[in-house]
Amino acid sequence: MDQAEQLRNIIKKQNQRKRLARVITVTSGKGGVGKSNLTVNLAIQFSRLGRRVVVLDADFGLANVEVMLGLRPRYSLADLLFRGKDLYDVLSPGPENIHFISGGSGLYELANLDDGQLQYLVQMMYELDHIADIILIDTGAGISRSVIDMALASPEVLLVATPEPTSITDAYALLKTLSKQKEFTSDIQIQMVANRTHSYQAGEELFEKLDAVAAKFLDVDMEYLGNVPYDEKLMRAVMQQRPVSVAYPNAASSKALQRLAALLEHREGVPVLRKGKGISGLLSRMFHAGR
Ligand SMILES: Nc1ncnc2c1ncn2[C@@H]1O[C@H](COP(=O)(O)OP(=O)(O)O)[C@@H](O)[C@H]1O
Ligand SMILES: [Mg+2]
Repeated sequence: MDQAEQLRNIIKKQNQRKRLARVITVTSGKGGVGKSNLTVNLAIQFSRLGRRVVVLDADFGLANVEVMLGLRPRYSLADLLFRGKDLYDVLSPGPENIHFISGGSGLYELANLDDGQLQYLVQMMYELDHIADIILIDTGAGISRSVIDMALASPEVLLVATPEPTSITDAYALLKTLSKQKEFTSDIQIQMVANRTHSYQAGEELFEKLDAVAAKFLDVDMEYLGNVPYDEKLMRAVMQQRPVSVAYPNAASSKALQRLAALLEHREGVPVLRKGKGISGLLSRMFHAGR
């Protein structure tokens, strides 16, 4: 048995015993469609539902979540991997009890880690699995290898799209790339969120369009989670470096995000998580894919 296999066995055993965090990866075909806003505001809404939430900022280089929250974390996952920091060093407190971890370059080094480093990372993430109920991963823009690997390793993917034609073609391109990978299976649950819509109907139409081509040409199944309306208040909140759910809790977008969080919570019972739960499991699957 090689070390990777040993690691997977350890995780498998541990997973059978304990409740691990629910991991939701937020992604899109292109940047600027509202992933970071969706991630942070869903985190706030889940926290209001009494969940312990951690946001993992995997948007390498841009450090989106930090900018959105107007916070400057002391350490990132790269410090955990390469500079001896532990989980509690890299967990930064955000508003309303949410916490976040800045990925830094850490998540993109997975393929280059030696077994000892990887084991340490998975151990730390296993600890995170026990202090969080929900972990939301905000991924970077575009169809990079790491985003693809992360989505493939996730039991649940939230695909964000807007009604602009370029967003639809880019979302399709992402689905196409995902569906062509050998790790792609139908037990990855893909749920679409229509963002910046001008009506409820526009969101449904966007979903129907994308779903039809994905089913026909890619044999990919998606579900529709719902829409977040175009909202000036959200833009104003971004300027203030505050999540709209905090700055304007009664804004149309905040209300929509509250509804989406409730829906997601409601769907938790659905047995989609055959692949195993937890961020530790996700990382070990990514690691497996990378070698
Ligand atoms: N529902 C919305 N209504 C109005 N503007 C929005 C909405 N969602 C996002 N935006 C705008 O789009 C910009 C990009 O959003 P962001 O969450 O950073 O996208 P991504 O993370 O996908 O790159 C925001 O700064 C905001 O101005
Ligand atoms: Mg972003």
